[in-house]
Amino acid sequence: MLISFEGIDGSGKSTQALRLKQRLEDAGRQVLLVREPGGTALSERVRQVLLDPALHVDPLAELLLFSAARAQLVRECIMPALADKQVVVCDRFFDSTTVYQGAGRGLDQDGWIAAFNRRVTSGLVPARTYLVDLDPEEAAARQMARDGQAGRDRMERASGEFYQRVVTAYRRLAAEEPARWVVIDGRLSIEAIHDIIWSDFVTLAAARNTPEQ
Ligand code: ADP
Ligand code: TYD
Repeated sequence: MLISFEGIDGSGKSTQALRLKQRLEDAGRQVLLVREPGGTALSERVRQVLLDPALHVDPLAELLLFSAARAQLVRECIMPALADKQVVVCDRFFDSTTVYQGAGRGLDQDGWIAAFNRRVTSGLVPARTYLVDLDPEEAAARQMARDGQAGRDRMERASGEFYQRVVTAYRRLAAEEPARWVVIDGRLSIEAIHDIIWSDFVTLAAARNTPEQ
């Protein structure tokens, strides 16, 4: 079973992805948690390139690099883990490309990215995608508290308008595909968000005949 977490930088999704993994492991499930970009030796190297504030990266090159990291991760880790009946929890997946490069960088004018993403993931789509929804100002304040100004990576140096486009695109994707997305108010406490996710997950797993408790 494949689950993904989405949200802007600082929304709290990595905290939730880890919390879900721990809860599942406590319930006796085998879980693979991967973050994007990353998760394989090649993808972690690509991550270094993508997040390096010293590099200028053309938007199309950026999209292709994120996708290259994903193609490797899907084939090297995600597909084998799914074949092994593990729960795979992705801290970001192809929806990040749709919103950051498609909407944020403005690359998706004629709608080609959806078909491209399907090619990159060989058609893998998460059974559930949790959107931790937070306004850019609040997410930026959390990040600043965590990392400070100097700790911001190349992506995090994008403008406020960029992040507003990303948030709007996330909300639109979730509204377009309500059977896959669950939108959660990121202003809730860590435990309150986790409780919503866990109860949704248990229901989803039961519907798919995979006992989680
Ligand atoms: P992301 O992976 O979306 O960038 P993180 O999970 O790393 O976000 O969280 C960003 C920061 O906000 C961290 O310092 C984290 O402890 C804090 N945080 C996460 N969730 C919440 C929450 N629900 N309320 C307040 N702070 C949170
Ligand atoms: P990361 O430090 O993992 O950020 P976060 O904790 O917010 O997830 O950095 C990943 C950055 O890369 C983040 O700014 C989102 C961006 N990104 C894209 O622009 N496109 C993508 O396809 C992916 C996977 C990430």
